[in-house]
Formats: sequence, C-alpha cells, structure tokens
Amino acid sequence: MAQRPWRRTGLKPPAPAALGVLLALALLALARLPPSLDCSPHLPPASSPPGPRQAVATPLSRGRARSERPPVPPARLRWDQPPGRGRRRRRGPAGDAPLWLSDDDLQKMQLLAGGRVVSKTRIPAHGQVLRVGLRAVGDAEGDASPAGPEGDCQDGRCGLIKRPGDLYEVLAFHLDRVLGLNRSLPAVARRFTSHLLPYSYTDGSLRPIIWWAPDLRHLEDANNDQNSCALGWLQYQEMLQPRGPTLVAGDAPCSSIPRSEWSRLALFDFLLQVHDRLDRYCCGFQPDPSEPCVEEMLHEKCRNPAELVLVHILVRRSAPSRLVFIDNAGRPQHPEEKLNFRLLQGIDSFPAAAVATLRSGRLQSLLLESLRVDRELWESQGGAEGLRPLLRTIDRRARVLLRYIQERNLTVFGDSPR
Ligand SMILES: *[C@@H]1O[C@H](CO)[C@@H](O)[C@H](O)[C@H]1NC(C)=O
Ligand SMILES: *[C@@H]1O[C@H](CO)[C@@H](O)[C@H](O)[C@H]1NC(C)=O
Repeated sequence: MAQRPWRRTGLKPPAPAALGVLLALALLALARLPPSLDCSPHLPPASSPPGPRQAVATPLSRGRARSERPPVPPARLRWDQPPGRGRRRRRGPAGDAPLWLSDDDLQKMQLLAGGRVVSKTRIPAHGQVLRVGLRAVGDAEGDASPAGPEGDCQDGRCGLIKRPGDLYEVLAFHLDRVLGLNRSLPAVARRFTSHLLPYSYTDGSLRPIIWWAPDLRHLEDANNDQNSCALGWLQYQEMLQPRGPTLVAGDAPCSSIPRSEWSRLALFDFLLQVHDRLDRYCCGFQPDPSEPCVEEMLHEKCRNPAELVLVHILVRRSAPSRLVFIDNAGRPQHPEEKLNFRLLQGIDSFPAAAVATLRSGRLQSLLLESLRVDRELWESQGGAEGLRPLLRTIDRRARVLLRYIQERNLTVFGDSPR
C-alpha cells in the first residue's frame, strides 16, 4: 500500500531509506484508526482516546498546524501535481485518476481537500454542519477575502463540513460517478487544522466536506426550504406514469424535471438506502422504534398517502431540469431483508450505463479504484480490505436491483445529454 502512490504518480521509485520512512508513515496512518465508515452514518464514531490519536495524526500535516499554510503536496489526493504546472493526469495506461472523475470534479476535490479555510458560516437550523470558504493552493489572494464569505460561495469556493459519521457521503459521491449518474456534488474526507474552526472540527477526526453549489434553488417557504419544488407522494407517482398528465403538467411543481431524473435518483437511493428523499416516513420497510421516522411520528402517516411528501428534492438554478443529490450518506447498515423497495415504486426504466456497470461484476473494483483517489478516506478505512464489507453490501443491493428489473421486465434508457 505504501508503494503504490509512488508508482501511480510516476515518481521515481524511492530509495530504500525513503521506503523505510514511507512504511513508517503508512503504519502511522493505519494506527490512527479513525471512525470507521462501517457504522450507522448518524451515530458518532466510537470514541477513542484523543491524546494518542492527535499525536500520530500529524505526520504529513505538521507544517500546517496553525496557519493552514499548504504543504506540498497540498491535498491528500492521489493525482496531485504541483500547482502551476500543467496537469498531467491520465498518463500511462491506467492513468492517475479514473476517467469517470471529470476535470471539474478533480478541481473541486482538490479545493476541498487542500484549500485553505478562510471563513466560516453556520447554517441556520443545521447545527451539525459548517460552511467554509476555501482558498485554492497557489491562489495569490491573501487570507482575508475581499469578497467575504458570501462572495466566496457565489464563486464556488465553499464547502460544507459535516459530521464524522457522515463519511459515507464520500463513498456515495464515488458511487455516483462510477455509475455515470453525475448528480451528486464532489466530496472528500479531510482532517481540519484551521484555527478558524471550532475545536470539535480540529480534534483530529476525519470529516466529509462537500462542495457547496452556489445556486441550489430553495423554496421561499421556511418550512420547506430543503426543496426546490414541493411534491407530494401521490403527485410524484402520477408524474411517473408513462401516460400520466405530462401534457397538462407544464406548470405543476417539479414539472421541469424529466422522468429519467427520477430513475437516476431511485437507483442511487436504493443502492445506498437513502430514505430521506422519497420515503422519509419509512413506509417501505418496518423501521425499528429508535428510527427517527418513528420517533418523529412520521411513520404513522404512511396510512394516509395523501399526506406524504418528498424532501430534499433539489435542482440548481443553472440546470433546473437536473436533480442534485445532497445528503447522500444513506444507510450502510440497513439489513438486506428490509430493503426499501418503495424507493423504486413507479420507476419503469433505468439509466442504461449505470445498469450495465452494475451488471458488469466490476462495481466493487471500480469503486475501489475511485476511492483510492481520496487518500485520507482510503487510509482511514484500512484500504481495500477495510472497505470491502461496505462495497460488498452495495454490490449485493445492486444484484437485488438487477433481479427486480429483470423480474418486472423493466427497461433501460440511453443517457441523454441532459
Ligand atoms: C456533470 O454535471 C455537471 C453539473 O453538475 C455538468 O457541468 C457536467 O457537464 C456533467 N458531466 C457530464 C459528463 O455529464
Ligand atoms: C416478463 O416477460 C415475460 C416474457 O415476455 C413474461 O412471460 C412475463 O409475464 C413478464 N413479466 C411481467 C411481470 O410482466
């Protein structure tokens, strides 16, 4: 594991002494034993004594301690090139970054993973996340931002730092790209050291940071601001009908979103078992009494479908006919016997390229190839071996989905440019 980065970045093989150092670093990285992804995304990670971890968590970032001055390489991403020289990714037969990550993805991931934190903003009513302004490595502008936090975010230079338990969202991003869906926002795992951040963000724990899309459309309604359009379950089902009221629905809520978008969403959410969009009430499975959907008395509404609404249905102003997938942490531990098939209800066709990838038998290896780019995540999870159980879970869900498609004679559709 320690040697692969050298080979893949095309550097000369390290001398034996350097190899020793590398090996030591790799062992240190392994010793950090951070929160495992393999836990419910909404639970805090198993606590570990802060002292020792702090001590070993810094081998590569020591120079960054207070000032967040970027060391070289700046980000813990695998394809890194020194800034300022033309990027030379994808040399060699395998390339340095997988092709399904676009240049734009890589740029954003690099900003998220290595950008200097220059501002922070709390998000009202979302105490568990923090929005930060980021300054790219090599950006000539100083720490103070002339544009201010809002300006930074409008320029696409902000990220949302979430809880350590939301790390699975990074995996969700890679799944999205591997499947060619391209509907979720770039995300990486990172340890923060900036003095601008509260202590709980700089205690050495690994957190996901998600690129902040500046132009998500939010409803004005304060009770419904996590949606770009208000959509009830019944309306949604009607909209999915092949001969549904598509012609009269020109001004119905969410009517700018074509059916293929819902197919992408359903496929993605089924694999991750994200319920908090299409089925926040857990109507599609028997939830444990401790589930939020039960505790918040949502589950009882299942009896009255007219009351059910979709949530987190978002589009960007710049692309109102494409869904944006946010909050994708999902449920890695959701049991296979209880998979939520309601997420698939009404969908009769799925994106061909994604289905072909699921069928290929290569899903796990493609995901590994993609996740390897995020070195923080990779090392924190114990590399391929540590990630394997999670990937197997997704792969098993994929097989269930393929069987579902086959048994119902459902079709696939070619990916339209939109
Ligand atoms: C992926 O989505 C972004 C917008 O989120 C878009 O700009 C880009 O063209 C898309 N890439 C592909 C390959 O569709
Ligand atoms: C699927 O197609 C097969 C063969 O055409 C047919 O026998 C079967 O009844 C179909 N199943 C469904 C659920 O429509």
